[in-house]
Amino acid sequence: MERLSIVILAAGKGKRMYSALPKVVHPIGGEPMLKRVIRTARELNPARLVVVYGHGGDIVRQMIDDKDVAWAEQTEQLGTGHALKMALSALPEDGKTLVLYGDVPLTRASSLQTLIAAAGDGAAVLTDVMANPTGYGRIVRNAAQGVVAIVEEKDCSPEQRSLREINTGMLVLPTARLAGWLDSLKNSNAQGEYYLTDVVELAVRDGVSVTGVNVAHSWEAAGVNNKVQLSELERILQLNQARALLESGVGLADPARIDIRGELVCGRDVSIDINAVFEGRVELGDNVRIGPNCVLKNVKVAAGTEIAAFSHLEDAEVGESCKLGPYARLRPGADLADHVHIGNFVEVKKSRIGTGSKVNHLTYIGDAVIGSKVNVGAGCVTVNYNGVNKFLTTIGDNVFVGSGTMMVAPVTLEDGSTIGAGSVITRTAPAGELTVGRARQVTVPGWKRPEKNK
Ligand code: UD1
Ligand code: CA
Repeated sequence: MERLSIVILAAGKGKRMYSALPKVVHPIGGEPMLKRVIRTARELNPARLVVVYGHGGDIVRQMIDDKDVAWAEQTEQLGTGHALKMALSALPEDGKTLVLYGDVPLTRASSLQTLIAAAGDGAAVLTDVMANPTGYGRIVRNAAQGVVAIVEEKDCSPEQRSLREINTGMLVLPTARLAGWLDSLKNSNAQGEYYLTDVVELAVRDGVSVTGVNVAHSWEAAGVNNKVQLSELERILQLNQARALLESGVGLADPARIDIRGELVCGRDVSIDINAVFEGRVELGDNVRIGPNCVLKNVKVAAGTEIAAFSHLEDAEVGESCKLGPYARLRPGADLADHVHIGNFVEVKKSRIGTGSKVNHLTYIGDAVIGSKVNVGAGCVTVNYNGVNKFLTTIGDNVFVGSGTMMVAPVTLEDGSTIGAGSVITRTAPAGELTVGRARQVTVPGWKRPEKNK
């Protein structure tokens, strides 16, 4: 196979985003759009991968994991031809060079493969036919359908302006020819820029054929210039992801109402109700059911677990056949064994909860280790923080914690202990015993309510 180089042009500022951030780091599907383009590029196994950056270069580089990426700076944005020139010294001398844009995030690797194959020994450009081609470079073909020129809209004759086939910007060129062609570009055009698109005419002059390949879906070639376009591509990406899930057997209540901002891996017979948001890496085992309006970020949920409406889980692990929510909150470090129940308005942070234990109502469990078959009543709190340090609460197996109990950490509730409701527990509750830590109830006989003064 011929050596493939890929250059991603990403030096534009993106004025119309009205943002302090460079355009290519704005997120789509939860990650910077440039990152997505780089991932697609990697799928093609290039020998060389170069990103041309300019505006906000430091931020761009920080946000990209760049072990295999060479960076080329373009300090002044003098046009796409000038941008590609900045990458030349990083390219090998032979093979093909594929040019991509950092602000065109949804191209599929398979379409690029088709484009590379179509180039053969020559060049190829990816084109699209648009009902409204305004703003794009137009593709000019000869009688034999070969591409002979790309004319920017501002430089078009009226006849050229009526052409509806446009340049997506993605193209494949023989690397050995680049230096010569890029050096002879002129900026004597409507925008005073060095147009990469002018290499098409130079190629034709040199007897190099340029094949125009129509893109399979318009969204693969769609770029982001403003937040309207970004939101449109976000919806397309989400619908594509939803369709892929449905095709793989995942049940979705509505493919238009799910957002995956990262990676979602599902077992068999998973069902997901409306408005679920998945971030980072989420794994759902067989038969997991997600209720409406749940948010799951970096979590692993084992088979058979049900998560009811409005639950929020982050950096947590949930065992098999658990029941969570509605309104359950798992914060980082929540680790639930199998058959655990976490009910409404229960918050769990950095705690291990053992098999079959239940914490069903309005409770805070933080920095705790809880054994199996424990029942924590309503309105209990692990009092884990004294304003300076955090302390551990240890609860053994088969413990029953009455409602309204404060467990002032560090503290231990031994196996089989029972805690009376309303207790403030500050010392070890011994195994198998009833411990009550609250003021005794008194009744004042004959007490009269005060009466209003006349
Ligand atoms: C370019 C094409 C046009 C095509 C359109 C598709 C040229 C001359 N025109 O126009 O035919 O229809 O894309 O969207 O190539 N960039 C740099 N440095 C620069 C200029 C641009 O890195 O000096 C990068 C931008 O960050 C962007 C890409 O190149 O990723 C395209 O630049 P943009 O200004 O959007 O090109 P258009 O004028 O839209
Ligand atoms: Ca553009």
